[in-house]
Amino acid sequence: MSTAKTALIIGASRGLGLGLVKTLLADGWHVTATVRAPHNAEALQALGDVRIEKLDMDDQQAVIALSQQLKGQVFDLLFVNAGVKGPAVQTPGGATLAEVGQLFFTNAVAPINLAQRFVGQIREGSGVLAFMSSVLGSVTMPDAPELALYKASKAALNSMTNSFVSQLGEQQLTVLSLHPGWVKTDMGGEGADLDVETSTRGLVDQVNDYAGKGGHHFINYKGETIPW
Ligand SMILES: NC(=O)c1ccc[n+]([C@@H]2O[C@H](COP(=O)([O-])OP(=O)(O)OC[C@H]3O[C@@H](n4cnc5c(N)ncnc54)[C@H](OP(=O)(O)O)[C@@H]3O)[C@@H](O)[C@H]2O)c1
Repeated sequence: MSTAKTALIIGASRGLGLGLVKTLLADGWHVTATVRAPHNAEALQALGDVRIEKLDMDDQQAVIALSQQLKGQVFDLLFVNAGVKGPAVQTPGGATLAEVGQLFFTNAVAPINLAQRFVGQIREGSGVLAFMSSVLGSVTMPDAPELALYKASKAALNSMTNSFVSQLGEQQLTVLSLHPGWVKTDMGGEGADLDVETSTRGLVDQVNDYAGKGGHHFINYKGETIPW
């Protein structure tokens, strides 16, 4: 019988999600990964032994369909990575109702809705539920006012995660709100500090270190605690 750990990675077409899959595979994990457009997932397919499922996290019917599809599977790690930067203009007067609604739904509401659907499939005791937050979601962080709406959406994700954790009841698992660093991806841009590999190596190390510890922690890819 295989003793490999199992992961479900949400949003793995590119960037950090793709990097997480690569790092986990290199560590011998069995990985199921979701993309919005499977016909456009060559980079993920090229990694080899990955089960690829289609999911737009904003689509409740698709979330329900995926939970049916993966019924009975137990995951050592559920990592909700998918997220968006939001509108180009992030001043309160510069963004539309639709843009703000989309940003907050995708970054703060959809991840928790998904977690609610799958939490019963995370391994009791040693399982980890990870959300891709950001240090920009810390309400103590004064930087990057040009990303004010994105920052607020990640603060909202942290708040939604806190509410979710408070309702977990008896289930023993570890919940991580993770900051990956500032990473060179489509979202992070070329001028970012870190390459994807360095960030995802650190993120997976934190998942391994925190497994079995329980509680909810806001940390970066190096394991340093971030103030809420
Ligand atoms: N890069 C950084 O410096 C940085 C720093 C802090 C936090 N983060 C967070 O890290 C996560 C990944 O960011 P990234 O830099 O890798 O960004 P990215 O390159 O823009 O990738 C975003 C990923 O999210 C997916 N996605 C977006 N909306 C989705 C939805 N509704 N349903 C399913 N998948 C969806 C995208 O899929 P498609 O290919 O289909 O669009 C893509 O796979 C995000 O949550 C981001 O906020 C990034």
